[in-house]
Amino acid sequence: MQEKLDEIRAKAKAQIEEAADLDSLNDIRVALLGKKGELKTLLNSMKDVAPEDRPKVGQMVNEVREAIEGKLAEAKEKMEAEALKQKLSFEKIDVTLPAKRAKVGNSHPNTSVLEEVERIFTGMGFTVVEGPEVETDYYNFEALNIPANHPAKDEQDTFYITKDILLRTQTSPVQVREMEKGNLPIRMLAPGRVFRADEVDATHSPSFHQIEGMVIDKGITMSDLKGTLEQFVQELFGKDTKVKFRPHHFPFTEPSAEMDVSCFKCGGKGCRFCKGEGWIEILGCGMVHPRVLKMSGIDPEVYSGFAFGIGLERITLLKYEIDDMRLLYENDIRFLDQF
Ligand code: DAH
Repeated sequence: MQEKLDEIRAKAKAQIEEAADLDSLNDIRVALLGKKGELKTLLNSMKDVAPEDRPKVGQMVNEVREAIEGKLAEAKEKMEAEALKQKLSFEKIDVTLPAKRAKVGNSHPNTSVLEEVERIFTGMGFTVVEGPEVETDYYNFEALNIPANHPAKDEQDTFYITKDILLRTQTSPVQVREMEKGNLPIRMLAPGRVFRADEVDATHSPSFHQIEGMVIDKGITMSDLKGTLEQFVQELFGKDTKVKFRPHHFPFTEPSAEMDVSCFKCGGKGCRFCKGEGWIEILGCGMVHPRVLKMSGIDPEVYSGFAFGIGLERITLLKYEIDDMRLLYENDIRFLDQF
């Protein structure tokens, strides 16, 4: 028995010293100490040992097992340390290399302009509100004094979802939703996405943005409209900007106007930028139609108001002198990086 144990111990020592990796170390462990391992087999033959010798033999077997386990653990530790050393030398980091700066994004030009517009109007006491992009025919048309069969309905090529549900063609329905709440007076700004079935070109897109504005209070007149919008464009385009109101027609305002600003490139003399006009159209506006007030539950005998609608992309293109609207949507970083 003693001989046999010495043999196993010597063999184990040799095998462990020769083991090339952790896997073969494990194989050795199983072969020697496992359920069917040599040591176990030896223990099973205890029955052949005289009973008085059994404790001694048992102790011997244990000693050998402990010795083998110790050797295995020692070898394993050495191998793991070696593997770690190799890994570290592989992944060596040269901290003296020059740093690469992480790319930081920047605001989309539309976002920058919208934030500027919101800053100007909130400074004048306006509150920024939102309305749904999916609207009903009532809010998008009917309540804005655009009844069925009205030609204005065809002008705005509408994406219909059902006969009564559509993608809003303008942000004006938000006016109605605010008026219906009945919290007067109102000074609101409603920026948002609008949709029209237009072909894509340099000045059109099926989805673009408008900024709606409305003020309702007692005694609001056209001069409030003019003063507010003049203040707005002078903050946006510069102190010397002049405004001009041209009569126009919108079903929801009466009277209605389009507002031009003096060309901020040539100051009004006429240049390539303003196509020789000296003026650039930037928004539609007017005094809220009494019928529109009444439909939303506001008494036009007591209250009056003005409203306006700005095309956000139009302002962005002007302000940054971009000549193709598509550039705003392509998200080409080389383009967007410039702003
Ligand atoms: N909703 C109009 C459009 O899409 C723009 C507009 C014009 C809005 C006059 C207004 C307004 O609030 O008073 O063309």
